[in-house]
Amino acid sequence: MSVAPGHTGSMAIEPFDVVDLIRTKRDKGVLSTAQIDWMIDAYTRGYIADEQMSAMTMAIFLNGMERTEIRDLTLAMINSGERMNFDSLSKKTTDKHSTGGVGDKITLPLAPLVASFGVAVPQLSGRGLGHTGGTLDKLESIPGWRASLSNEEFYSQLEEVGAVICAAGSGLAPADGKLYSLRDITGTVEAIPLIASSIMSKKIAEGTAALVLDVKFGSGAFLQDIERGRELAETMVQLGRDAGVATSALLTNMNVPLGFAIGNANEVRESVEVLAGGGPADVVELTVALAREMLTLAGQPDADVEGALRDGRAMDTWRAMVTAQGGDPDAALPVARETHVVTASRSGVLVDQQALPFGIAAWRLGAGRARKQDPVQHAAGIDLHAKPGDTVTEGQPLFTLSADEPARFERALEAVEGAYRIGDVGDEILTGGPLIAGRIG
Ligand code: URA
Repeated sequence: MSVAPGHTGSMAIEPFDVVDLIRTKRDKGVLSTAQIDWMIDAYTRGYIADEQMSAMTMAIFLNGMERTEIRDLTLAMINSGERMNFDSLSKKTTDKHSTGGVGDKITLPLAPLVASFGVAVPQLSGRGLGHTGGTLDKLESIPGWRASLSNEEFYSQLEEVGAVICAAGSGLAPADGKLYSLRDITGTVEAIPLIASSIMSKKIAEGTAALVLDVKFGSGAFLQDIERGRELAETMVQLGRDAGVATSALLTNMNVPLGFAIGNANEVRESVEVLAGGGPADVVELTVALAREMLTLAGQPDADVEGALRDGRAMDTWRAMVTAQGGDPDAALPVARETHVVTASRSGVLVDQQALPFGIAAWRLGAGRARKQDPVQHAAGIDLHAKPGDTVTEGQPLFTLSADEPARFERALEAVEGAYRIGDVGDEILTGGPLIAGRIG
């Protein structure tokens, strides 16, 4: 037993001692529901110190958690804040979450595409940290576009337009916000129980009726190994179902950047190409596959998803969505002051293009942030001109770096050194397999 410090008079009696809980996980034991509930509540209200929670997250990282513990952790994090409710909407809700990758702009074409079928897509999104971009950062490249909406604006846009992509308020799963910042600086992000409970607590608290998870594996993902990706997907699908959310997952390959654009404004440009019925084959393939999953869970398994991209319905919803949030869908997007083109040193076939180094390079150009409070440079990033498997000729542009300050090019070029290779016809193309490697659900 322990008592809360700093109190005089009547002291709150705490039911557990956090050091006992840390020892239990350190020694590969199992925490009870009551212990996990208390731990999350006590950490959220500041009773458990960051250094104690750091020891706990490291013990979880090293020794894992039982499924019952992961479920309890998720519920405790949901209960740390408010829960949204869409019962009053006239439309069914369906949402998507990606575990994050390089060039992953899929939410931008996907949300309006799915909403064009008369369902509501409440996408509460985040900003980028490190080499994976943030959906809000990308959309903020559009002049006038606003990420923060009041509750009334959010609900009325869902009813009228169907698609909303906006900032999640701090009221949803606040325990996760605190825990995620701690994991970020203690090397404990890549733990399946912690990732699964972090993502699912926010998505369940958000109140969507259906959820499709895009779980990435490969060099540009949190989890490199496909089997670990599958375990994460299965854990999250189970958590969703236990909470009454219709949930499925696609297991997708993040060894190669998605599409040709890595950055912010350039990713918006590429998304608009997809909404106009064009765009890179991999971005279209994944957008269509995720849209089918979301619409199937929302009761429309036969929706003509490609048709909505071809005939402009998805584009109309995009324009309405951007306009409703103060953006001008026709405004010119920012362009960087400086560019640097890297050309092919020989003729042959591009056999390798590794996602992580290209993500890091885009970040170093200014497309991402190193600290939460830093701004991003919307025009900074990388435009690829060839993808693995493409034939290239000596001197042809392979990719263009864009930045506002030319001094950034050197460190970006260092990041991609050895990350792409031109081989000969017949050499193995190092993509690590198909884009969509499996489905769970
Ligand atoms: N995204 C989240 O929201 N949480 C994690 O732990 C990892 C990715």
